[in-house]
Amino acid sequence: MQGTFKEFLDRWELHQPELVAETAQARVWKVRSEHGPAALKLYRGPDRGNEEPGTALLKAWHDRGAVRVLNEERNAVLMEWLEGPSLGDIARAGRPEDAVAILAETAARLHGKATADVDGLKPLNQVVAPLFGCTFAPACPTLLRKDVLSATNLGQHLLISQPMPVPLHGDLHPDNIILTHNGPRVFDAKGYAGDPAFELANALRHPKGMTELVRDPRQIETCLSLYSEAMNVSEKRLAQWAAVKCALSICWRSEGAIENDPEADLLRLFLDVAD
Ligand SMILES: Nc1ncnc2c1ncn2[C@@H]1O[C@H](COP(=O)(O)OP(=O)(O)OP(=O)(O)O)[C@@H](O)[C@H]1O
Ligand SMILES: [Mg+2]
Repeated sequence: MQGTFKEFLDRWELHQPELVAETAQARVWKVRSEHGPAALKLYRGPDRGNEEPGTALLKAWHDRGAVRVLNEERNAVLMEWLEGPSLGDIARAGRPEDAVAILAETAARLHGKATADVDGLKPLNQVVAPLFGCTFAPACPTLLRKDVLSATNLGQHLLISQPMPVPLHGDLHPDNIILTHNGPRVFDAKGYAGDPAFELANALRHPKGMTELVRDPRQIETCLSLYSEAMNVSEKRLAQWAAVKCALSICWRSEGAIENDPEADLLRLFLDVAD
């Protein structure tokens, strides 16, 4: 059964909770614990939904820069508290070059060693599957419809030509990395398995709130170059995954039939560079 906030505070002997984030899926509190300051993430559902394998992966990657997981049970995770700005904060404060460089180094560190053996990771073909079932509302602009269909074809091509699957964070972007005194620390993993070229593709849609920057052709070029080198994958495949992930996000947001989307123009740009 789903545990309550009060129940986890008692069970794990947590004190002085301060709410720090509230999202569609979960709430995060800063708390005091026997291990020192910690972050309690409490999911709204009965369990951690699609993020359960993510915690297993963060544990396997602890010596590569992932947050330390202190406890986990049903719909709750307790992690060490990460003090410092996120890479997203660093970018929004005017240093986007630093943010993308640290993101690339962080990804290289996670993926540099032999792949970790983690059970339950979600295969990329299951992640991408909703794209193959997406439909369009009558008001959907012709160009967006055409671009989503192109991305769907690309997705099919990428899935059948995947190299040996590797564990993937699955949501590796600047707002899921905090720069602490001890270096960058990664959290909020989905835990996927598949093509390493997927790992930083979604990061081309970030940082949050910097819509002009992510559409700047020079920024796209810089990120493709840095991220493909960090992951040791081809720029072309990375750009193709960026288009596919962008279309998938459009599909997720549409809740059934795609009508229009604020990232329709970004999808166009990614398809251009993927060509
Ligand atoms: N261990 C931590 N230390 C410090 N702050 C944290 C920690 N974990 C989460 N946070 C804060 O809480 C915010 C939300 O947490 P998290 O990224 O896990 O959820 P989310 O982005 O809402 O998840 P999702 O992407 O699944 O919707 C983070 O952006 C960060 O500000
Ligand atoms: Mg997050």
